[in-house]
Amino acid sequence: MPRMLLATTNRGKAAEYDVLFKGLDFEQVTLDQVGINQEAPENYPTFEENARSKAEFYSALSGLITIADDSGLEVDALGGEPGIRSSRYAGDNATDTDRVNFLLNKLRHIPPEKRTAKFRCVIAVAIPGSSTKTFEGECRGCIAVKPRGENGFGYDPIFYLPEYGKTIAEVMPELKNEISHRGRAAQKARTLLESLSGH
Ligand code: IMP
Repeated sequence: MPRMLLATTNRGKAAEYDVLFKGLDFEQVTLDQVGINQEAPENYPTFEENARSKAEFYSALSGLITIADDSGLEVDALGGEPGIRSSRYAGDNATDTDRVNFLLNKLRHIPPEKRTAKFRCVIAVAIPGSSTKTFEGECRGCIAVKPRGENGFGYDPIFYLPEYGKTIAEVMPELKNEISHRGRAAQKARTLLESLSGH
């Protein structure tokens, strides 16, 4: 079976991709497994450019079909922040809980109807000897006033889905994979990966 590199060190994302790309005719390998510990450049202004640069960087190092994503949260009342800065929003050594609290504090005077937001994800698939393809997904909701739920990672406990009456951290992982920004982008990328594996 051909190998495919999943270039992420984020455990929350990796766990989701294990399910989202299950059943493909590829052996999915991690950066650790191929002995890569360099960090890819990730300082472009868009999710698309960051995902593409990461995928191409690790594909060049490994010689493998490589998947990388860049994703984040865009809050309308903050003009789209934190966006590409989602993972560094509360400083370099901050935890998910610190980031959630930092964001809630920024939004403390914003009423519920103005707390709309979206998660965005771009998946890049770098293919040795061919051009890189990108796939985008988004998920709309609003920012809750306090965290709820234990599932998922990152900002999930404060990302409220009005149509389910729950935060993403309260819905089952299967549902998150179906409706999330990453799930939607992965469904599109899957079609390409199936064609590459000849399946
Ligand atoms: P990056 O794509 O590694 O730059 O990090 C994206 C950051 O956005 C993560 O560290 C999270 O803080 C946030 N994020 C991206 N996707 C999700 C998600 O599915 N749930 C919650 N937070 C997310």
